[in-house]
Amino acid sequence: MAGTMSFLQTLQGRRGDRVPIWLMRQAGRYLPEYRELRTRHSFLEMVRTPELAAEATLQPTRRFGFDAAIIFSDIMTPLEALGIEIEFAPGPIIRRPLRVRPDIERLELRDDPAPYVGEALRLARAQLPEEIGLIGFCGAPLTLAAYLVEGGGSKDFEHFRRLLRADPDAMHVLLNRLTELSVAYVRMQAGSGAQAIMLFDSWAGLHDAATYAEFGVPYNRRIMEAAGDAGAARIAFALGASHVLDALAEIPCDAVGVDWRTDLAQARRILPGRALQGNLDPAVLFADRATIEREARRVLDAASEVPHVFNLGHGIWPQTPIEAVSGLVRFVHSYTR
Ligand code: CP3
Repeated sequence: MAGTMSFLQTLQGRRGDRVPIWLMRQAGRYLPEYRELRTRHSFLEMVRTPELAAEATLQPTRRFGFDAAIIFSDIMTPLEALGIEIEFAPGPIIRRPLRVRPDIERLELRDDPAPYVGEALRLARAQLPEEIGLIGFCGAPLTLAAYLVEGGGSKDFEHFRRLLRADPDAMHVLLNRLTELSVAYVRMQAGSGAQAIMLFDSWAGLHDAATYAEFGVPYNRRIMEAAGDAGAARIAFALGASHVLDALAEIPCDAVGVDWRTDLAQARRILPGRALQGNLDPAVLFADRATIEREARRVLDAASEVPHVFNLGHGIWPQTPIEAVSGLVRFVHSYTR
């Protein structure tokens, strides 16, 4: 049998028969069969239709033989349960950003968060070979808050960082609401077939270490504790976060996902006892085959002393050549077997 549960085994700190590999954003626009589905359905329609979401989840595992599938959704979609309207173009847009305290205090958990994601997880699990892991996920409260206050993506997130400084109490109210939502959401996912929960703190890097320790860590801890209590393995990912690794070490989890700028040896020292996930630069997939293999080997060798899940350091880019991905999966599996 191919890679007997090597993904979950690795998260549990045991060595499987090879290093498992999956890629962040592996279900997405670089994949022809995904683009084909998208000609007929909008992104949100796909996310909200369990059959379509399950299909998009399975597409990359069928084509490439990845060791894990990640449920097709977005970090922003469960926020609808708080009464927030979200659009995608292609990044998330919030037409009525939360800029003042009354907007924040009005938020309440009205519904179960994204029940369609639970149904998509059940459908995906039923079709996935047993040895392939299924990952659920949620956005970290501080990252979700960045989008909600700013109204969308941004380079500096000025509105968000201003509100955090001008009214830190309001920010804590917002982070508490987002944490309550996320705790319910990860419990639901773990109960619907997600064997691992990954927390995406994509904008952790905006903050200095002390600010991250106050506004990021306590909320992330509550979510990861809930995921653990529900029986899921846990991965914490932060982008541009070398300078907050010490704070990240305070979050309970089985593995830490690191970006391509973070030195794996440094991460290993700061995060003893955790598996590491990452961290090939997504741009490397545009190089020739010899370069891709050399760079992948560098990542594998740097992590050879710890349980390691091979991944990119951030999501795969939409223009990535398909052959680069299939070549990478073959190389990682054959080099580590
Ligand atoms: O990884 C996967 O394959 C699972 C699905 C997934 C998506 N978004 C699908 C998606 C996951 C795990 C996410 C997480 C997500 N979404 C994050 C955290 C990870 C990270 O990238 O740091 C963030 C910050 C978002 C917010 C978001 N959603 C952005 C910035 C964008 C646009 C840019 C982009 O990469 O496409 C989205 C839209 C989105 N989310 C798409 C997909 C497949 C594209 C939608 C389309 O088909 O047009």
